[in-house]
Amino acid sequence: MDHNKLALPVGTTLDRFIMRKQEDFPYATGELSQLLRDIALAAKIVNREINRSGLIDIAGAYGSQNIQGEDQQKLDVIANIRFIRALRNGGEVCTIISEEDEDMIQTGNNQGKYVVAIDPLDGSSNIDVNVSIGTIFSIYRRISPTGTEGTEQDCLQTGTHQVAAGYVIYGSSTMLVYTTGNGVNGFTYENSLGEFFLSHPHITTPKTGAIYSINEGSSEYFSEGTAAFVAHCKQQGYSARYIGSLVADFHRNLLKGGIYMYPATKKAPNGKLRLMYECNALAFIVEQAGGKSSNGRSRTLEQTPQSLHERSPLFIGSTELVEKAEEFLAAEYSDALASL
Ligand code: AHG
Ligand code: MN
Ligand code: MN
Repeated sequence: MDHNKLALPVGTTLDRFIMRKQEDFPYATGELSQLLRDIALAAKIVNREINRSGLIDIAGAYGSQNIQGEDQQKLDVIANIRFIRALRNGGEVCTIISEEDEDMIQTGNNQGKYVVAIDPLDGSSNIDVNVSIGTIFSIYRRISPTGTEGTEQDCLQTGTHQVAAGYVIYGSSTMLVYTTGNGVNGFTYENSLGEFFLSHPHITTPKTGAIYSINEGSSEYFSEGTAAFVAHCKQQGYSARYIGSLVADFHRNLLKGGIYMYPATKKAPNGKLRLMYECNALAFIVEQAGGKSSNGRSRTLEQTPQSLHERSPLFIGSTELVEKAEEFLAAEYSDALASL
């Protein structure tokens, strides 16, 4: 492969970048490229809705709960509709898993080769207070033959099988960051032109960092290992940073170095975050950027998913910090074994 081709100048549009990348794969049919463009289009629409949400009546609660029993916000529902519509109209996706829908969504495109898992709006609690929120997506190639509906087996593939993953952060600027397994690239949205431009080529995450991100309001429910690791972060003089939008916390730590944690707690034995459309996508990205992601004991991407909405603990970010967290948790497990 000619790596010079990948060294595109900053300022390249997302569409052009996707097209150039496709040229590196002579047998590519262009379907994945089209799928990424569909996601970018929906992201632009959702970005517009978010930007004006204070002006039109789409802030606040929708009045129902999703499959997780969490209150849906109006923007959760709007973002879900926008992404599903874009994926359905695009035609490359046979089946979607969404945080907002209990069952798999059959798009009716049985010829579609791909399955998408999506958290349409991440950081719901921050929607109404002008704090960064996001979208997370994960893409798999279906296993079942085309021409039929996608199956649960297509949807429940291990994270190592992802063909692409990414997120959109609706922040002080809106960015789309994605990987197709050949590095991570970030694109910043230019509002007046309506385009994403390559602004962060070849993102690599620092090997270590001085930021730890965890909801310490739950510390009463932390395991000994988690509590000990958080104490260690404080002893090291690390800064605590926690926005409460996974995408935003992850994005900051990806660029600056650090660790984000949503551990298993006594209240939530599998943590809170969802494996298929939160953990795996970010794990793929962080690994591609040179970082690490773990459930505290083993690699996130190797967990075998059992159900569409299952949860997993998450320790993600700079390799040295994630390994250190694993050390503290391993000590906890061996103590527990010794006391049996
Ligand atoms: P979502 O809005 O998609 O339900 O995700 C919320 C998640 C995640 O974004 C964030 O990191 C975490 O919930 C915060 O949870 P706590 O309030 O328990 O810290
Ligand atoms: Mn989320
Ligand atoms: Mn969500």
